Amino acid sequence: MSAHREHLKVAVVGHVDHGKSTLVGRLLHDTGSLPDGKLEAIQEVCRRRGVSFEWAFLMDALQAERDQGVTIDTSQIWFHTAKRNYVIIDAPGHKEFLKNMVTGAAASDAALLIIDAEEGVREQSRRHGYLLHLLGVRQVAVAVNKMDLVGYSRDRFAAIADEYRAYLAGIGVTPTFVIPVSARDGANVVAERGGATWWDGPTVLEALEQFKIVTEPEGLPLRMPIQDVYRFDKRVFAGRIESGVLRVGDRIVFSPSNRTSTIRSIEAWHSDPPPTEAHAGQSIGFTLDDQVFAERGEVVSHEQDAPVETDVFRARLFWLGARPLTRDTRLRIKLNSAEAEVRVQEIERVIDTGDLSTAGSDRVERNAVAEVVLQADRMLALDEFSTAPATGRFVLVDGYDISGGGIVSMEGYADQRQLTTVRASNIQWVEHAISTEARARRNGHGGGVLWLTGLSGAGKSTLAVATERRLFNLGFQVYVLDGDNVRHGLNADLGFSPEERAENIRRVGEVGALMANAGILVITAFISPYRSDRERARKAAGAGFHEVFVKADLAVCESRDPKGLYAKARSGAIKEFTGVSAPYEAPESPELVVDTAALEVDACVDAIVEYVREQFRVAPVRAAGG
Ligand code: ADX
Repeated sequence: MSAHREHLKVAVVGHVDHGKSTLVGRLLHDTGSLPDGKLEAIQEVCRRRGVSFEWAFLMDALQAERDQGVTIDTSQIWFHTAKRNYVIIDAPGHKEFLKNMVTGAAASDAALLIIDAEEGVREQSRRHGYLLHLLGVRQVAVAVNKMDLVGYSRDRFAAIADEYRAYLAGIGVTPTFVIPVSARDGANVVAERGGATWWDGPTVLEALEQFKIVTEPEGLPLRMPIQDVYRFDKRVFAGRIESGVLRVGDRIVFSPSNRTSTIRSIEAWHSDPPPTEAHAGQSIGFTLDDQVFAERGEVVSHEQDAPVETDVFRARLFWLGARPLTRDTRLRIKLNSAEAEVRVQEIERVIDTGDLSTAGSDRVERNAVAEVVLQADRMLALDEFSTAPATGRFVLVDGYDISGGGIVSMEGYADQRQLTTVRASNIQWVEHAISTEARARRNGHGGGVLWLTGLSGAGKSTLAVATERRLFNLGFQVYVLDGDNVRHGLNADLGFSPEERAENIRRVGEVGALMANAGILVITAFISPYRSDRERARKAAGAGFHEVFVKADLAVCESRDPKGLYAKARSGAIKEFTGVSAPYEAPESPELVVDTAALEVDACVDAIVEYVREQFRVAPVRAAGG
């Protein structure tokens, strides 16, 4: 097969009994793509055994040969026409579908969906349609097969076609073609009509020939997940280029470690001299100009268009685990070549793929699709599925079972890369000559950060200011950093996008930590909607950090609406408003919770002040005489 011929990848999906093997067998046979004598050999075997010939036997035999061969993907079958080559991606069941999803094999240009004319649209047909939608496959041909069994009834065909079109329309998929077919008789697969004398649309092959190649991974940013690192005399990083082009001399970055380097050489099998560039789809190794420590699981990209780094993201996932998925379910995620533990932070919407109804959102049953928020135990390098499909999908593993898969959406969440990268070099840490203890003894209390978090209108600023007053009167060195104030100065350049909020909190976290280090008790009042940002602030301040959840649910805050912002947010005048159109991730184990919906301001302040006295007081030591 010559390399320059174009390839169209077609996922063939449908229930086994709906005649998938027969249809694929027909396509291979009628396009003259079968190995010579293969069909006759199988027919002969059938004759000898006294069984009637089935296309499935032929497909099984081909499959068995493939399994013995050292092919990269055993589920791929080829056929060709004058126009181009076709790769058939066979997806026998949901699990295989999901597996293919991560290996990239299911990054198909088009799909051929098979429905049994006798049985009509089944649960499974719907689910398959939904999965295709999930995977972003937009070119879909539907073969209503076994038309011979319903006497090539035009009405029967129309009924099925209408029902299925209506379903697909519900999920935003418009099938490009719906075709009446009899794979057994060879009607409308490659040869025209057969018994469907009334049909004037295309055959399956004609439909496929009209589809365009849409998987163009070369135009996408470079993504190469590292599969292995070999230590010969030099270090060789091996993996498959999922998208983009890699060239000798390129500046690259490993994510999520953020280590950078320059490509010295590209190593490929059977290539002499070694290549100077490598393309999407190729499995290669490379070496670097300098010694960089990077492991399996990192993603290589160019510096200017690196993947997102995050430990939290939204996902649209298909669940087929034995147990229902609930909030806090812990699973392993396989994403690119990385693995991590994730926890279901939120179930936002559950969609029944059968009837597309959206149900109550506290659990996801087997075979349902859900929109969830997943939180990982460490930073992951990933992409928004819509911009880089190959690195924007994942599977979930429960124990040893693949139990779900899905695609990534970063909507409402920030790329955290900038927050964790130190740009300057040649910098050192200078030690102070005054100890933290000495400062604490003089003040009579340790420095620290009381980090108030909660929705807008929950009462953070009110409590912060009232607590500051009380603590000041008690002799504390105390100072409030308030969101609205800081946004007038230090953070005047920041708005409310996820990235800007993250940066807002990063700066405040660092300033708070400095002030705490100076011995001051800092009270911060910021919505700080993201857990990861608050955790970074905690890390910056160390042991003196105390998270205070100022609790009041959305309805309460909205009814207070002190600044009239909720009303504006509801009317659409403010975009990305926390709680309305942007996420708020409540603390999971805050040091203190004050419920402003249940308690008066004074009672809340009492609780905070009492907590501070317990946590921060140290016995002051008179300076006199040392
Ligand atoms: S944070 O999300 O980055 O932590 P921050 O606490 O600094 O927010 O600022 C929140 C204040 O900004 C709110 O009290 C509110 O008055 C105002 N505000 C303006 N636009 C928004 C918005 N889209 N979402 C939330 N608060 C907003």
